[in-house]
Amino acid sequence: MPIFVNEKTQEFHLQNNGISYIFGVISESGQLEHLYFGKKIRHRPSFQHLKERRRHSASTNRIEGSYTTSLEYIKQEYPAYGTTDFRMPAYEIRDKMGSTISDFRYRGYSIRKGKPKLEGLPATYTENIHEAETLEIYLFDDVLGGELILFYTIFNGWDAITRHAVFSNKGGERFYLNAAMSASIDFPDSDFEMVTLAGAWAREMDVQAKPLGRGIQSVYSARGASSHQFNPFLALKRPDATEGSGEVYGFSLVYSGNFLAQVEVDNFHVTRIMIGIHPFQFKWKLNPGETFTTPECVIVYSVRGLNGMSQTYHELYRTRLVRGIWRDKPRPVLFNNWEATYFRFTEEKILTLAMESKKLGIELFVLDDGWFGRRDNDKSSLGDWEPNLEKLPGGIKGLSEKIEALGMKFGLWFEPEMVNKDSNLYRKHPDWVISVPGRPMSHGRNQYVLDFTRDEVVGYVFEAMSRTIRESKISYIKWDMNRNMTEVFSKAWPKSRQGEIFHRYILGVYKLYEKLISHFPNILFESCASGGGRFDPGMLYYAPQTWASDDTDAVERLKIQYGASLVYPLSSIGSHVSAVPNHQTGRITPLETRANAAYFGAFGYELDLTSLTVEEKTAIKKQIAFFKAKRALFRFGRFYRLLSPFPSNEAAWMAVSSDQKEAVVGYYRVLAQPNPPFSRIRLAGLDPGMLYAVDGYGEPVYGDELMQVGLLLDKIETKGDFVSSLYCIRAAEKDG
Ligand code: DGJ
Repeated sequence: MPIFVNEKTQEFHLQNNGISYIFGVISESGQLEHLYFGKKIRHRPSFQHLKERRRHSASTNRIEGSYTTSLEYIKQEYPAYGTTDFRMPAYEIRDKMGSTISDFRYRGYSIRKGKPKLEGLPATYTENIHEAETLEIYLFDDVLGGELILFYTIFNGWDAITRHAVFSNKGGERFYLNAAMSASIDFPDSDFEMVTLAGAWAREMDVQAKPLGRGIQSVYSARGASSHQFNPFLALKRPDATEGSGEVYGFSLVYSGNFLAQVEVDNFHVTRIMIGIHPFQFKWKLNPGETFTTPECVIVYSVRGLNGMSQTYHELYRTRLVRGIWRDKPRPVLFNNWEATYFRFTEEKILTLAMESKKLGIELFVLDDGWFGRRDNDKSSLGDWEPNLEKLPGGIKGLSEKIEALGMKFGLWFEPEMVNKDSNLYRKHPDWVISVPGRPMSHGRNQYVLDFTRDEVVGYVFEAMSRTIRESKISYIKWDMNRNMTEVFSKAWPKSRQGEIFHRYILGVYKLYEKLISHFPNILFESCASGGGRFDPGMLYYAPQTWASDDTDAVERLKIQYGASLVYPLSSIGSHVSAVPNHQTGRITPLETRANAAYFGAFGYELDLTSLTVEEKTAIKKQIAFFKAKRALFRFGRFYRLLSPFPSNEAAWMAVSSDQKEAVVGYYRVLAQPNPPFSRIRLAGLDPGMLYAVDGYGEPVYGDELMQVGLLLDKIETKGDFVSSLYCIRAAEKDG
């Protein structure tokens, strides 16, 4: 049984084979006290001895006559501000008097098998009720008439706990939520490094690690999207934890809008971590009878270092966040025309590219931006999802049929959330844009954000997209989103609800996704936001893959994909082979290295195939055949990071099949070094007693040797920059 309850002492212990998460009720005042989270410990009938109470001078206390009931000194589960705790709270409510003091007290609990859905929000799920158990803790504030339910789900198969909170107004007076985080934990010490993923357009997912200091440290987005700048993820890692060993706690928010991931270390070295919707620019009105649900936070504990954490996220997200037929099906090798043609194409050019693609073994042809309205540049036509018949005389219907006749599937680009001023949609509905009446509207790439808080706007876009989808043969959609939100205000909502617009917008995006995938369940969606501007678990619930970055340079991709792999499975990381000189960096890398980097992702090509030499085409044909032969391994295998590209000139990683009989290692060297030393890399994840044949390596070797002594990197060119090699490994036989 994964959830134990000590009824007498009012304690809850969520436990599986790897982890224990223990908290209880503060008997003195009814809040919740965090007691332990980490490696599994034995259950016992009471954990009262873990409660810390001491008189602190200069403290404020909850109970008259008591000097040990200061919430500032009690580790909490979901803290409030201003009732003896002075740190940043997990939530804040403003009541009818204008007071922001609240006092939710424990009322009871319930336990159910499985995991409930989060209404209108993406979340992990179970396929049968035996995969997880869920604890609901009921708290009530009598003065406010407010109910708070904290949800905790523990999975049996993964060292992961999910949390979210639901606030309900059960009284007679409205109140406002000023903050409602998804989860908060007070850890008893601060001996951690904080690991985050930071970046910018075209250089997303830089891994940052820094020791915690006293005070607040955080990452966030206030852009209306989870953002290129910071991913909605934070890990606390012990300073001695490595990729393969040591304690790491991961916090990943299943959400695509504004977020805050914050760590506060107080002067007693207590570490308070919280993650959720950013309270800045957030204010949610709750009328009597109304309810607010926070997004879900997925908390992972690993004793196998960062890689252990990543593998849990990978498996959980690949199998219990991603949905639909594409969850388990092999993904097609795709060609995307964007870097081949940009906006300048004719049907003839597209068909020539398609014929070349087919010859090379491509399975899905994707037509990117530029196919609709008068879209010859980024100044016009977003919102008008009618094909440009000058470019495509047979429309999307005709083109998609021709592509299918060539023996490939067809995919199409949309940017559903946006509109250009130069469009029929904007001319008809200028009020459908997010903007403040009487104030200038800022543009981003000449486009404006449609008000997705309005059902009629979401409905209109659904109809416009569905028309094209229904009449054509569309197997894939790339859903792009190319600007952040400014002047956020909706004409559809009263002034008391303007603090809800950022979140309502994201709910509208989720609504459209849900509608599209339920009407067109066979379509594979790829999300995109100028590359990785909205690469988050929320999106993965709807779109199983994400275009990870507009930067297609192989050397840059080593860092971007390495960083993304901290949380996201390879199957979700869109990665393409593109032309040289690279369009973002001007760098010239070997074709082999470009493919060797892109295999470790949702693989495809994005370059003008008509300008390739015969040798290049032959090489690409081989690459595609290789990928098809190994795609199950890249897709379903365990991923191990071996050498980080961040501090070094080298990178290496590998994928190992679940039966440990097959593996592929990718090794990459950025700049050449004269007279280089011999180098070896220690592999991971192999069966120590298995004899493996390593391509080009001579005699087979045991797994323990490959993991302990290492793989001698003698295949790699000693001269030249940006070189790489792949090592394919296959089980030869098992030792006795
Ligand atoms: C930004 C995307 O990231 C690119 O891949 C491409 O689809 C362009 N938008 C098209 O405008």
